[in-house]
Amino acid sequence: MTSQQPPRIIRGLDELRQITRAWKRAGETIGVVPTMGALHDGHLSLARAARKSCDRVIVTIFVNPKQFNNPEDLANYPRTEVEDARKLTPVGVDVVWVPGGEQMYPSDFTTNVSVSGLTDVMEGAHRPGHFDGVATVVAKLFLQTAADQAFFGEKDFQQLMIVTRMARDLDIDIEVIGCPTVREETGLAMSSRNLLLSDHAMMKAATLHEVMTDTVEALVGGAEFSTLQGVAMTRLRAADFTEVEYFEIRAHDDFTLLTAPTRPARLFAAAWLAGVRLIDNIEVPVKG
Ligand code: PAF
Repeated sequence: MTSQQPPRIIRGLDELRQITRAWKRAGETIGVVPTMGALHDGHLSLARAARKSCDRVIVTIFVNPKQFNNPEDLANYPRTEVEDARKLTPVGVDVVWVPGGEQMYPSDFTTNVSVSGLTDVMEGAHRPGHFDGVATVVAKLFLQTAADQAFFGEKDFQQLMIVTRMARDLDIDIEVIGCPTVREETGLAMSSRNLLLSDHAMMKAATLHEVMTDTVEALVGGAEFSTLQGVAMTRLRAADFTEVEYFEIRAHDDFTLLTAPTRPARLFAAAWLAGVRLIDNIEVPVKG
């Protein structure tokens, strides 16, 4: 049921549970879109996917301190709650769940959800503790919202695979659905962190996706990945990227490092521009 009413902002778990229990009693399905706010069109596309698939939609907004390994990054993370609620109204979101810090992590909170293996590489290797924080908060959000389906963007592909595994391993009765990355016209993947870039840096940032698509095209044309990696580094440095943390092809299911796409794979990258860390990934067609 689509409504143009502003979503109800809920801050207490008892109230949220009353609402979700009533929905369940009425036989309604619930879709959840976990976010940290600073909503952009990528988030809105997830909310629309949830709206299409489920009777009720909850968007969660919680800037999760446990997943930030850098206090400065946490302090700088954009917070735009009023604007966020306004953006969700035309989508027909029923509830925005905005738990407080004490609600999520009371002072005697001691549980940690940790997914091994998939978390060892890429974001997990460069941001120690990040995925424990993500898995812990997402497990809580799944249980708090009692959702039937959860919607995540493929932009954070490693996160998508990790929360899928976490829900399966813990027998949480929820279907995790991955949705395509939404991009600016320039190809830059939408991200809340883009708000921290100047207009000039936003233009430069598009080079990351451009270099990635050129790399995949050349790979399909038969070029060696090691050569393409070198070309990519040179182009990114020329576009003022200060550090490339990784630029690699990995199997899309278990993240095995590949030198050629001999099985379903993606090209993954993380790089710094103007003090902002950008990540992206795209599909690599299987060779042969
Ligand atoms: O992708 C995000 O915004 C966050 O990692 C998530 C899934 C909301 C958990 O805090």
